[in-house]
Amino acid sequence: MIVNFMTAIVASKGVARSVTPNATLAAVGRRAGIEVGAAVAAEMLAEPWLTGIVARECATVSPEVALKWAALAPGEGTYDFAPADTVAAFARRHGLRMRGHTLLWHQSIPEWTLPLLAGEDGWPLVERHIRTVMTRYRHRVDEWDVVNEPIADDGGLRDGPLLSAFGPAYIANGLRAAHAVSPNARLAINEYGVEYARPIDAARRAGLLALVRTLVAQRVPLHRVGIQAHLNLAHGPLALAELREFIGAVARLGLEVSITELDVRERDLILPVEARDRLVAEHVAAFLDCVLAEPVVRSLSCWGLSDRFSWLIVTDEDRARFPGAWAGGSTPGLNRGLPYDAAGQAKPMRAAIIDALARRVNRGRR
Ligand code: G3I
Repeated sequence: MIVNFMTAIVASKGVARSVTPNATLAAVGRRAGIEVGAAVAAEMLAEPWLTGIVARECATVSPEVALKWAALAPGEGTYDFAPADTVAAFARRHGLRMRGHTLLWHQSIPEWTLPLLAGEDGWPLVERHIRTVMTRYRHRVDEWDVVNEPIADDGGLRDGPLLSAFGPAYIANGLRAAHAVSPNARLAINEYGVEYARPIDAARRAGLLALVRTLVAQRVPLHRVGIQAHLNLAHGPLALAELREFIGAVARLGLEVSITELDVRERDLILPVEARDRLVAEHVAAFLDCVLAEPVVRSLSCWGLSDRFSWLIVTDEDRARFPGAWAGGSTPGLNRGLPYDAAGQAKPMRAAIIDALARRVNRGRR
């Protein structure tokens, strides 16, 4: 769809929007210098109503699970590339790029490797995995989450099989191995829990920045920091000033930032849907206006596009917070933390993303 742009002076929170009302997320993102994408799981690709939305709205897709080590290599010596190939084929069919999520993640190290990691073939095993996966998708993936979630709640390095087997050096050596396979690929470290004013977020921001500073000082190949942006309406105020400070520090280290997994876990599930959607949209707008003000933020991916397939589910803890609210068969439905609802209808969160991108376009014009 050729989307021609005109400067439509549309009153939207008093902000002139330089996009047509039917502009896609990807198109407005391109004008804002932002590569817009979404996570997709293989099972979503069997839903034409959703694949149409993804193909229209995105410039890139992230396999939600299929490119993780434990998903790719459930058994020793064998790789099941079928789900990841399905996502790659979908991307190719629609001219989309693919984010390489993720090579090394403590939650997705195959069981069969655990007794091997500490042995002399341990690191060669990790290198073989990196080389196998990056080589196969080198024509589709420009950016790899080489290390996912390396920081612990206290800001130190998170325990896991790779830290236990190889010490902190697994991070630098993983990045070096990835760079050796694909010297032109953008390499990222991807982390969650840095968005709020809570002490735990402050500790993780500090720990992530310290890690990145060390890697840059050691001239380790690293190009981006991924901020996952799993927002949560129960986590209190966003740390807007601290986030801009964090991104500014990353920029001064010569790195860029990707927003990699945007979605919103709701808190007040029993409010009317309009109120729920407004709270989500306003929170997303505040977060995006903060991070998109930083030129080094270069991509924005949601962790899915439709609530129908979100990993954010209504939990028993949620139900316990609203005694009796589910009586008589009424339910709060799904968590409403993505741009589209379960029926494929755009929600205020989508408009909030468009508006935030448009504000970045307009800032760039001044
Ligand atoms: O495909 C199997 C299915 O065959 C089986 O019947 C079912 C029950 O065991 O499991 C299915 O696999 C599940 C997979 O999602 C696909 O739905 C795994 O158990 C489940 O652990 C996996 O969860 C994913 C999780 O990462 C772990 O890989 C979530 O969908 C995904 O949203 C989540 O994404 C992570 C990012 O990678 C990193 N940042 C946090 C984010 C949310 O946790």
